Amino acid sequence: MAHKLEPVSSTAGEPADDAGQAAFDRIIAADSRIEPRDWMPAAYRKTLVRQISQHAHSEIVGMQPEANWISRAPSLKRKAILMAKVQDEAGHGLYLYSAAETLGTPRQQLTEDLIAGKARYSSIFNYPTRSWADVGAIGWLVDGAAICNQVPLCRASYGPYGRAMVRICKEESFHQRQGFEILLELAQGTPEQKQMAQDAVNRWYAPALMMFGPPDDDSPNSKQSMAWNIKRFSNDELRQRFVGMMVEQVEVLGLTLPDDQVRFDEESQKWEHGPLDWDEFKEVLAGRGPCNAQRLERRREAHEDGAWVREAAAAYALRQRNAQEQNEEVA
Ligand SMILES: [Fe+2]
Ligand SMILES: [Fe+2]
Repeated sequence: MAHKLEPVSSTAGEPADDAGQAAFDRIIAADSRIEPRDWMPAAYRKTLVRQISQHAHSEIVGMQPEANWISRAPSLKRKAILMAKVQDEAGHGLYLYSAAETLGTPRQQLTEDLIAGKARYSSIFNYPTRSWADVGAIGWLVDGAAICNQVPLCRASYGPYGRAMVRICKEESFHQRQGFEILLELAQGTPEQKQMAQDAVNRWYAPALMMFGPPDDDSPNSKQSMAWNIKRFSNDELRQRFVGMMVEQVEVLGLTLPDDQVRFDEESQKWEHGPLDWDEFKEVLAGRGPCNAQRLERRREAHEDGAWVREAAAAYALRQRNAQEQNEEVA
């Protein structure tokens, strides 16, 4: 997909251009879409490259904790479902790298930044998957949080990002259902199975809540992203909305959320939750979580193992180009 896109200079439309800025402002004010060839402020482009590439890296690194259970899934059916889910995540990463490339940053550079440990990805994927129930908890909580975050991104002002998110969200809802169903089956199983499901929910709940990012008063870029119609709701708003969804669903599961401070605040009409450990969040984000080193090492290995595929694709593309040029000469 990516190689078909014509390169867009990373400095296209920059530096400042009064007419370009006015056109950009009009598009944003009309809640319409910015496309790759439109002029855009350097900071808008930079914000998008950062956000979209972090999102792409999260999809790709996020394949690892679940892939860990493919060979040990409890049945052929579960294995097939999990494989499809993990492959979907690879596809999400590819759509998103393609969207980032339309802003002028090559995928190769984004990948190199990731494997050099210079890029960020969602901190949640640095936690280990200890039991089969973790696959359920990831689908239910992590993909559930991803949906809450991503549905509003379908309306993001940058066209290629919004369009990629539409396809991604359709698949995320399947992911959440498969996770919920794994937990439901365990919760209705033996007492040990139910305990395994509860234990997984206990471990994934707080990291899932932290996926929405730091609290609003500690999230300096949020305001600008909202002014640019990239983000539509604040971190805390999305987190509260998510807690409300989980409260309803955990009852159906017959499990509990490990948070005795969850309540609906009548006055603000919002869900409240207990305190989260933001120091832990910062530690994991800084590379010191339980699996950070392992995740990056595995990503590096996978990239090196794939070198022959990239070489073959480049050789094939060159051959196609040469053949086309020869045809054109003959014509
Ligand atoms: Fe995904
Ligand atoms: Fe997913």
